[in-house]
Amino acid sequence: MEVISEKDEMRGIVERAKAGGLTVGLVPTMGYFHEGHLELMRRARAECDLVVVTLFVNPTQFAPGEDLEAYPRDFERDRGLAEGVGVDYVFAPEADEMYPAGSSTRVEVEGLSGVMCGRARPTHFSGVATVVCKLFNIIPAQKAYFGQKDAQQVAVVRRMAADLDFPVSIVPVPTVREPDGLAMSSRNVYMEPDEREQAVALSESLAAARELVESGERDAGAVAAAMRDVFARYPAVELEYISICDNIFLRPLDELEGQVLVAVAARVGRARLIDNMLLDVK
Ligand code: PAF
Repeated sequence: MEVISEKDEMRGIVERAKAGGLTVGLVPTMGYFHEGHLELMRRARAECDLVVVTLFVNPTQFAPGEDLEAYPRDFERDRGLAEGVGVDYVFAPEADEMYPAGSSTRVEVEGLSGVMCGRARPTHFSGVATVVCKLFNIIPAQKAYFGQKDAQQVAVVRRMAADLDFPVSIVPVPTVREPDGLAMSSRNVYMEPDEREQAVALSESLAAARELVESGERDAGAVAAAMRDVFARYPAVELEYISICDNIFLRPLDELEGQVLVAVAARVGRARLIDNMLLDVK
């Protein structure tokens, strides 16, 4: 496995691989790998000839006062883990390689960026869309792998790739969970042990929603109320939002029908956690 830090070198490697008929899989990450990241890499490894993982804590997706400086980092550990699952290249640029002095262009995916997490983090998805757009140009892969845990990010990136005509398939990969149901996240390390115990509120609320829908409930208000009942049992967990919406445009639904995204966000101590599930409602 090779670590590359310069854009031109990285693009050259990918272009030569594609010219030689290889399928390239891209796994964009901010590092501090957990099983969720490794699952993205394994899936890319299984489906592509050449796997490129990017490791870049992207400053433009953090607002002032958010956790850019504190975001957990361990490059040597990440390098070993990526190598262990058969990654070919890690692209790990410095911030000024990605955003040289004077760079001022931002990609804005309207509509999808202002809802759900976009309410608490109004500049976040513009930062994500900008860096992913740049990564698609630097690493013109045929397939790009994203965790379904970040459902809104998947929707934003899918829209951006379609709108800007990137010939890349966006592959969402199911969320990997801890044994008690907590979705894996690099930010889980921010929680104190008692907070960590209560963080199951998110996955439990989704399980309650699933049970209700499976028993025939189709009213989004009733489903959200059942989810709020779960949160009420966990005082350390401050619910930020429950969203019951379609999975493409993220428009809120009154009645559950078709492919429905049920998503939650909550603050637990220093951590802001998100989780979701997709339901196929007949
Ligand atoms: O999901 C992440 O880790 C980041 O938002 C991403 C897609 C790598 C962009 O910085």
